[in-house]
Amino acid sequence: MIDNIKVHLKEVAAFSAITAEEVEQFRIGYLGKKGHITKLFAEFRNVPNEQKKEYGQLLNQLKAQALAKVNALQIELRGSQSQSIIEDISRPGQPIPLGARHPISIVRERVIDVFSSIGFGLSSGPEVEDDWHNFTALNLPEHHPARDMQDTFFVQTDPDIMLRTHTSSVQVRHMESNEPPIRILSAGRVFRNEAISARSHCVFHQVEGLYIDKDVSFADLKQTLLYFTKGIFGTSEIRLRPSYFPFTEPSAEVDIYWGLENEVDYRITKGTGWLEIMGCGMVDPNVLTNCGINADVYSGFAFGMGLERMAMLLYQIEDIRMFYDNDVRFLKQFIPMS
Ligand code: DAH
Repeated sequence: MIDNIKVHLKEVAAFSAITAEEVEQFRIGYLGKKGHITKLFAEFRNVPNEQKKEYGQLLNQLKAQALAKVNALQIELRGSQSQSIIEDISRPGQPIPLGARHPISIVRERVIDVFSSIGFGLSSGPEVEDDWHNFTALNLPEHHPARDMQDTFFVQTDPDIMLRTHTSSVQVRHMESNEPPIRILSAGRVFRNEAISARSHCVFHQVEGLYIDKDVSFADLKQTLLYFTKGIFGTSEIRLRPSYFPFTEPSAEVDIYWGLENEVDYRITKGTGWLEIMGCGMVDPNVLTNCGINADVYSGFAFGMGLERMAMLLYQIEDIRMFYDNDVRFLKQFIPMS
């Protein structure tokens, strides 16, 4: 019996393996429930008394050596596996899929960057608005015909609660709770009850700007717009067309000179070379008064632009619906503008 253990001890000492599978077989053979060592322990009671001590010692030694062997081989094999990965430098790398920024986010960040470099901070407001902040305080009282310009989604048939139709509502909120001087931008989603087409959507994004201080003039507005168009479109050639917004007086629409170099230019500028990019004007004194600002002391300008329109121009995107389809082939094409 003792010789039997000695044979096993030699076998364990001589064992070597190339694969993890071989090591596992060896482990089960020696240390498993039905393995040699369990069986040898079961034999213990048949060992003559005078040999029991030696038998016990040898058996414990066998168990310890078998365990040590298994551990050593497992470590060795794991090491050689990782080594072979390190050595094979010709293996193709594991591709890490890179996410892309949404074009609307890219343009929004860019617009915010340009204005923040001349001191505009950020302000935000809720997407579900009340009548006062979306319309009435902005000089658009109930039944005012200009409300028709912005078809509205009302919430739960309550005519007082709606999805904001423009970010101009944030102007009101900001003026109500802050003293001039005020210099803010507000970017966010707006909603209009419009039929969805290649040119318009019922959900889109705007950036709003507001500047209120003493002695702010139309010249300040124009200079700010020039700085902006230079920063975003690389052009200082702009024109201000008289327009109408209830919350500004005077009001203007801003066009940039896009050029007429190719067919696309002809199409998107309708053959004029000019493109409309935003609305603006001097904040109507009624709006200042509605928001608790003394219109005899302060004046200011405001502007608002659509981010989808901006992104469509900058990236030559023909259909506004593409922004919301979430087609990865579309989304992964955009790299941030420098
Ligand atoms: N709120 C206007 C719109 O959604 C855009 C706008 C025009 C905002 C003129 C302004 C502004 O602040 O001065 O059509």
